[in-house]
Amino acid sequence: TSSFTIGNTAQEKGLDYVPECYVVPPSKSSSSGTEKARIPTIDMSRLRMNGNKRSIAIEELGEACRHRGFFQVVNHGISQSILDEALAMAFGFFDLPSEEKLKFKSNDVYNPVRYGTSLKDGADKVQFWRVFLKHYAHPLDAWIDSWPHNPPQYREKMGKYSAQVRNLALELMGMIIESLRISPNRLTPKLDRGMQVMAVNCYPPCPKPEMALGLPPHSDYTCLTIILQSSTGLEILDTDDGNWKMVPELHGALQVHIGDHFEVMSNGVYKSVVHRATLNSEKTRISIASLHSLGMDDKMETANELIDEQNPKRYKESSFRDFLDFLANNDIADGKHFIDTLK
Ligand code: SIN
Ligand code: FE2
Repeated sequence: TSSFTIGNTAQEKGLDYVPECYVVPPSKSSSSGTEKARIPTIDMSRLRMNGNKRSIAIEELGEACRHRGFFQVVNHGISQSILDEALAMAFGFFDLPSEEKLKFKSNDVYNPVRYGTSLKDGADKVQFWRVFLKHYAHPLDAWIDSWPHNPPQYREKMGKYSAQVRNLALELMGMIIESLRISPNRLTPKLDRGMQVMAVNCYPPCPKPEMALGLPPHSDYTCLTIILQSSTGLEILDTDDGNWKMVPELHGALQVHIGDHFEVMSNGVYKSVVHRATLNSEKTRISIASLHSLGMDDKMETANELIDEQNPKRYKESSFRDFLDFLANNDIADGKHFIDTLK
């Protein structure tokens, strides 16, 4: 089993067992997570209207952020061909021979472009059934030349999707701030110069999908994360009953997570969503997570308007670099664990 490398296509094809190092303890495995989640659907076309219809849509957006910190967006304006082409480039990249992908291999969490496996390869006691490519994406001109040039259209197609999904994220973040009825004056300039990291995830078929996980439970250390997925596999923790719920497929929709930094900003009024990635035995699943944070050294602070005697400030200020420092020095790669250290 020592020669087994996930993402090494030749080996994973004929595999009929799950190597020991990937086996998740039964209590944490995914066998129970089959019930469908009821996900709020946010219609961007209503948020882009004027007057009363828009106010109602903003209320619904706020409700989704408060309740679960997770929703899906439709009528977002990114064309189906741009979504399909981004996914096709991701499939194309992971189909390349290992040597080609390994050129980007890095365990350094500060590296702006890196290919890797599991969550924090080398530190994970249990390995996760995932390979990933992460690259910074904003400002696009500053980073695109360091992205893979194979498949040949990778930069063009992934670049187009990255730019459009960033615009959508900025628009949504503005509306989320509005839904909290706080002043945008301090935060908006920080978001405008904020970072975007694309995390392109590949989960090869797993012979016994219920025995392993693609990604363990975690929340994202972002303001907002927008996910494009090729098929189902994402599950969110239902905080009402404590069960995992599968995010159903809705063609053309994008999934949106509230990240830890918006939990901090809102003084806990909006919650970052705990989620995980499960596996299947039939086909490779791709997800492209666009992660939106403040600039590397900008500190996220809680909005003054949301602090008073009944609601004291719950978190200390922190930057994206503070989180990377935490990642580099801890075995845990979960934003919730990090923000717990800020309380
Ligand atoms: C993620 O948590 O960043 C990715 C989850 C997924 O693959 O859907
Ligand atoms: Fe995540």
